[in-house]
Amino acid sequence: MSNAPRTIAVVGTGVIGASWAAYYLARGFKVAASDPAEGAEGRLRAMIDEFWPALETIGLADGASRKNLTFSASIPDVVHEADFVQENGPERLEIKRSVLAEIETSLAQDTLIASSSSGLLISEVQEGMKHPERMVLGHPFNPPHLIPLVEVLGGRHTSLENVDKALAFYTEIGKKPIRINKEVPGHVANRLQTALWREMFHLVSTGVASVKDIDTAISQGPGLRWALLGPFLNLHASGGSGGITHVLEHLGPAMREWSRSLGEYPETDDYITTMAEGVEEELSGFDWTETLRERDELVIRLLDAKKDSPQIP
Ligand SMILES: NC(=O)c1ccc[n+]([C@@H]2O[C@H](COP(=O)([O-])OP(=O)(O)OC[C@H]3O[C@@H](n4cnc5c(N)ncnc54)[C@H](O)[C@@H]3O)[C@@H](O)[C@H]2O)c1
Repeated sequence: MSNAPRTIAVVGTGVIGASWAAYYLARGFKVAASDPAEGAEGRLRAMIDEFWPALETIGLADGASRKNLTFSASIPDVVHEADFVQENGPERLEIKRSVLAEIETSLAQDTLIASSSSGLLISEVQEGMKHPERMVLGHPFNPPHLIPLVEVLGGRHTSLENVDKALAFYTEIGKKPIRINKEVPGHVANRLQTALWREMFHLVSTGVASVKDIDTAISQGPGLRWALLGPFLNLHASGGSGGITHVLEHLGPAMREWSRSLGEYPETDDYITTMAEGVEEELSGFDWTETLRERDELVIRLLDAKKDSPQIP
């Protein structure tokens, strides 16, 4: 990619696309956005306005402006001058494939396309593309304008060079991309979350602890450390001077026993009511909109504080 002002095409401007658009604008890019829904442009501009103060607090790149946004319902119109495409259409294989076919009608053949898909396999998404070698996964975490992680991988037909280019691009714009070496359902971060989700539903269903106490167990316990060091480094810290080797030799046998008693994901939907009642009880007396606002504010402060801690990976 050249040093000239670059244009990102954001295709699909719902929850994730709007947040990506705001992020790219804040990093100083021109954003050309497309979405076929009635009133999509107005909703996109309103969401960007809502996200902008947080992005200003984090710090805008030189030349960053909301005026650098253009919008068209026509995908070919927005991709023809794009230097990178971030695709955020509905999570349905046939829609992704038809959106990609439209993108390819006017996109330069070596321009990367990154899909935000939470769970589709890129190898399946890229079937039928004219230039599948430029198709990568660029899976963000909600909201992408705040959360640094992006999961990157290539499908069967993606060139390794393009996976490297996507990783370099996301790094350059201030994201924390990770490389996934093999396609697995749910990628990596959501699989890790699924392991926890499965067990928390099991613990509530079997009466071991309440929804509220399980939330406290994470948010006032290991969750505080997980935002700073990943679970491997926290294990390493638990081993004292012997590090992860010592802790696994010492506690590993017990952990293996605990793992044998972990629960399965509930087979039917009966558990949903119990979980929803637990959440309602936990939130009683709180203003949920304010809770989310305060959460995002704390995320920004935490990200800012982490910048001053060079020894935190
Ligand atoms: N919501 C999340 O937490 C989350 C997190 C990470 C990744 N994702 C992924 O991001 C993608 C978008 O999810 P979302 O939550 O923003 O969904 P969403 O429903 O909010 O947005 C999808 C948008 O796509 C638009 N659209 C419909 N048909 C289209 C077409 N033919 N061309 C272009 N746009 C079209 C819709 O009008 C809508 O605005 C999905 O692949 C999803 O898996 C979602």
